[in-house]
Amino acid sequence: MAAERRILITAGPTYEPIDAVRFIGNRSSGRLGCALAAAARDAGWDVTLLLGPVAQDLPEGIAVHRFETSDELADLLDRHFPNCDMLIMAAAVADYRPPVVSERKTPRTAGSLTLKLEPVPDLVAQCAEQRRPGQRIVGFALEEPTQLASRAKEKLRRKGVDYIVANPLATMGAGSIQAVVFTADGREITPPNDATDKSAFSRWLIEFLSGE
Ligand code: CTP
Repeated sequence: MAAERRILITAGPTYEPIDAVRFIGNRSSGRLGCALAAAARDAGWDVTLLLGPVAQDLPEGIAVHRFETSDELADLLDRHFPNCDMLIMAAAVADYRPPVVSERKTPRTAGSLTLKLEPVPDLVAQCAEQRRPGQRIVGFALEEPTQLASRAKEKLRRKGVDYIVANPLATMGAGSIQAVVFTADGREITPPNDATDKSAFSRWLIEFLSGE
């Protein structure tokens, strides 16, 4: 393995509150991020996992910090990103959130209700802007299968990361994964055929990244 030892992994969805009891979330299970954390631990990395509101069994021997909102995840990244050698950003972070959150439960009325949403900052792009030399960043891209490669390459550039793991939409919440890895230096790497369940894929990805 290369000289780096400390890896930071984010996983799971964010929940963006609407009022005292409601939120906007997504179907991410956090399963892939937890499998990546276990694979990295087994490969000798010192692992910190930032995990969203999911019911996954926590991998042993790993420092875990929990978040619910994108703001809480941003705070955890501020605290932990400077100390890592590699960030794997597998969390499914919201793109939009309500700018104002009522502390009460919004009552039902006869008419329709319009929710105003504001953009959530691109957290992985912010990490890429702040990184020190030698820190590597892996982003994820969840895409329609027909646009997988073009959109993943566009995200690689726009977010300023070193690698994008591109998945078709069906990956979210599923047990298996059919990913392609695009690198900032122009390579496209397909995992071996037997690396389609999330644990096997995680072992392959960690081995690949450790050898880079
Ligand atoms: N991401 C992030 N902050 C956000 C949204 C996404 O850091 N507010 C990260 C995700 O963790 C992932 C990568 O960006 O590593 C790509 O996420 P994805 O949802 O596929 O892309 P978006 O930038 O949200 O673009 P779009 O929704 O248009 O596909």
